[in-house]
Amino acid sequence: MPMSVTEAMNSRTSCRAFLPTPVSLATVREILDIARQAPSGGNLQPWHVYVLAGAPLQELRARIRAKLPQQPRGEGSEYDIYPREMPELYKKRVFKCGEDMYATIKVAREDRPARLAQFARNYEFFGAPVGMFFALDRRMGPPQWSDLGMLIHSIMLLARERGLHTCAQESWSVWYRSVGEFLGFPPELMLFCGMALGIRDEAAPINTLRTERATLDDIASFRGF
Ligand SMILES: Cc1cc2nc3c(=O)[nH]c(=O)nc-3n(C[C@H](O)[C@H](O)[C@H](O)COP(=O)(O)O)c2cc1C
Repeated sequence: MPMSVTEAMNSRTSCRAFLPTPVSLATVREILDIARQAPSGGNLQPWHVYVLAGAPLQELRARIRAKLPQQPRGEGSEYDIYPREMPELYKKRVFKCGEDMYATIKVAREDRPARLAQFARNYEFFGAPVGMFFALDRRMGPPQWSDLGMLIHSIMLLARERGLHTCAQESWSVWYRSVGEFLGFPPELMLFCGMALGIRDEAAPINTLRTERATLDDIASFRGF
């Protein structure tokens, strides 16, 4: 019996430590081949996915690792990861998620070097054997960004169905020049985020993080039932 969508939703969490066990090209192709059924406004399908494994993945990781000491914040970003003016409610959620994550690895708020070291794990794809990049034509607007989100979540759920885990990674957006150059992006293509894919390291404390959600009645309103 394949995993139900409900089970896939409930068992998906962002995985931040992977086993080095490879994931086959056939599996990744199958996931993407099904995920391309994701809907998009006007059936625009405004996405492009680049998938790396093996030597090219190691090479990109090594390039970023070499640049990080001089450029800990990367190359700047082509888009604001969070709004510049963020209402308190949302700031609190981001803060809490960060605090809870660092608590799993017992890193204190003041311990900046340890926090940076954990953050830098993003650029190793957290040890995953597969790293993906999601890009779209920079002439696209918010509706198409939302389309891309549907593709990304579909991939996450299909990965769960195959016993795999993922972590979406906006952190890669600050290396958009290096990534675009490495992957040979055409000039119109813009990097949205990366995604690590692989088998979860069940022994890694960071993977014990379970984030909270607002309640259903905080996020939904019902009329006329
Ligand atoms: C588009 C997107 C980008 C994200 N970027 C990062 C990232 O760069 N690094 C990271 O550790 N987590 C990243 N996350 C994971 C979120 O922090 C995570 O989804 C959120 O805290 C909820 O936790 P959960 O995924 O474990 O349910 C990203 C998630 C999304 C959807």
